[in-house]
Amino acid sequence: MLGQTEEAVSTLLSKGFLDLPVDPTLDLFEEIAKLKKEKNAIILAHYYQEPDIQDVADYIGDSLGLSQQAARTDADMIVFAGVHFMAETAKILSPEKKVVVPDLLAGCSLAESCPPDKFAEFRKKYPDHVVIMYINCSAEIKAMSDIICTSSNAQIIIESVPKEKKIIFGPDRNLGRYLIRKTGRDMVLWDGVCIVHDIFSAEKIIRLKERHPHAKVIAHPECVDTVLEMADYVASTTGLLKYTQRDEATTYIVATEPGILYQMQQASPHKTFIAAPPDNTCACNECPYMKRNTLEKLCLCLKYEQPEVTVPEEIRIKAKRAIDRMLEISATAGL
Ligand code: 13P
Ligand code: SF4
Repeated sequence: MLGQTEEAVSTLLSKGFLDLPVDPTLDLFEEIAKLKKEKNAIILAHYYQEPDIQDVADYIGDSLGLSQQAARTDADMIVFAGVHFMAETAKILSPEKKVVVPDLLAGCSLAESCPPDKFAEFRKKYPDHVVIMYINCSAEIKAMSDIICTSSNAQIIIESVPKEKKIIFGPDRNLGRYLIRKTGRDMVLWDGVCIVHDIFSAEKIIRLKERHPHAKVIAHPECVDTVLEMADYVASTTGLLKYTQRDEATTYIVATEPGILYQMQQASPHKTFIAAPPDNTCACNECPYMKRNTLEKLCLCLKYEQPEVTVPEEIRIKAKRAIDRMLEISATAGL
C-alpha cells in the first residue's frame, strides 16, 4: 500500500478504514493469487459479488453452499467475499480458522431488521414455538434459534418439524409468507425485508414481458408476493442458476440481485438475461451491502489479514447447534 507502514495499514483495516489506496501499478489478480498461495487461504464468494471478485474466488455459491464449503475447508484462512452474516457463519463453523472480509461494513438489511434484544422479547411471547431463522441474521439471533435455514433448504427444514409443533420464522416476511403457502404451516413471522428483493416491481416486469413475450420470469423467494405469483420459477441463487442451464427457454427476466447474471451468462452464453427493474427510477437493483466489496479491498484484507470476523465463544457454540442442525437435515435430503 502506498506511503504507509505495514503496521499502520493493518491497524487502519482492523478499525474499518477500508478505502485505502492500493498501488495502481499492481496486477491485483496476480497479487491475490500469490498471497492466497503464501497464506494457504481460500476465497469464498457469493453470486452477488462483482465479476472480478467472482473470477478470483475458489468457490462461488449461495448461502447454503458457502456454509458447507466453510465447514469443510482445510485452508488456514477464509477470505469471505459476501456480507457480514455469511463470514460470521464461516467463523461459527470453523473457529480455528482466521476469517477476514474485504469490508466489515458489508451488512444486510434483513440481519439489521432483527436486533437481538427485540427478538428475545418477541420469542418470549411464543415459548412453545420452534424457532426457525433464515441464515440472513446475526450470530446472536442464530444462538437464539433452534434451526437455521437458507432459501435452498427452507421448505425441507420446516417440513422436518412435526406438524403439531408451532413455528416462529424470521427475519424475512416475504420468504416466510412464501413458505406458509408452500408448506401449509401457520408460522408466526418476524417483520423484516431484504431492501433489494422487496422493491422489484410487478408492474414493470409485466411491461417487460410485453416486450419479451417468450421470456420466463425467475425470482428469488425474498421477493414480494405479486412478483413470486407471476414467476415461472422460484429458487435460491444456485437454484435459479441451475434452472437457466437446464431449461429450454432462451430469455429470462431475473428478479434477484443482478450479480448472478454474470454466472448465468457464462454458463449459457447463447441466452439472454434481463435484470428485473425495481420500483424506483433506477434501471438495476444492486445490493449496496454486497457491492461494498471491491477487488482492491479483497487484496488488502488478504495481505494484512484484516478486518477479521470473530464471534464470542458462548454465542458461537449455541449458534453452531442451530446451523449444524440445518446442515444435517440438508445432507439427509441430499442437498
Ligand atoms: P441465497 O444465495 O442463499 O439464495 O441468498 C440470497 C441472498 O440474499 C443472500 O444475501
Ligand atoms: Fe441482505 Fe438483500 Fe443484500 Fe442479500 S441482497 S445481503 S438479503 S440486503
